[in-house]
Amino acid sequence: MNLAVLASGHGSNLQAIIDACENGLIPARIRVVISDKKSAYALQRAKDHNIPSVFVSPKDYPSRETFDAKLAEVLKEYQTDLVVCAGYMRIIGEPMLTEFKGRIMNIHPSLLPSFPGTGGIKDAYDNGVRVTGVTVHFVDAGMDTGPIILQEAARIEDGETLDSLEEKIHKIEHKIFTEAIKLFVEGKLSIEGRKVTIRR
Ligand code: GRF
Repeated sequence: MNLAVLASGHGSNLQAIIDACENGLIPARIRVVISDKKSAYALQRAKDHNIPSVFVSPKDYPSRETFDAKLAEVLKEYQTDLVVCAGYMRIIGEPMLTEFKGRIMNIHPSLLPSFPGTGGIKDAYDNGVRVTGVTVHFVDAGMDTGPIILQEAARIEDGETLDSLEEKIHKIEHKIFTEAIKLFVEGKLSIEGRKVTIRR
């Protein structure tokens, strides 16, 4: 199965997926890494592992739809079966959602539906919740609203700092993102409405 990873930043989740593909935990290969940011370290990680890396500049496209049409074109060129958003900081719209219906996954650093949006970790921390966590979900037209695949909780202890919480969250991300991708690749996920069923 062919994976394509979309990433806008540092790419630690991308690295966890690369490692899981290389060591056989995920029986698939990453065909391409695409970024909307030229300076994204994720692109360098791809190069270091001989994975094609493509920068698509949003500035070259007059609208979100034309930009997403270009993304879909590149993804099809690489015969993508599953699109993995790993720190991809844009909302995905048409024609991507139709072309890759049920085949786009995202990682979010909170227990959705709490704390959607770009500040998932800090928003939970600032709100004083005792439990937050990580969600892997399929992507729909909303912001972090699609059907949930896996979640794992993280406790916020007394004296927890934002840094220590971030570290905890990233550790969980790397674990459950690779688990969710593995489940998809092995054909163990089905979506019905808002519910995802896992056949173990
Ligand atoms: C992760 O926390 C992810 O949940 C969020 O953006 C961050 C990306 O980190 N959407 P990285 O680029 O994978 O290191």
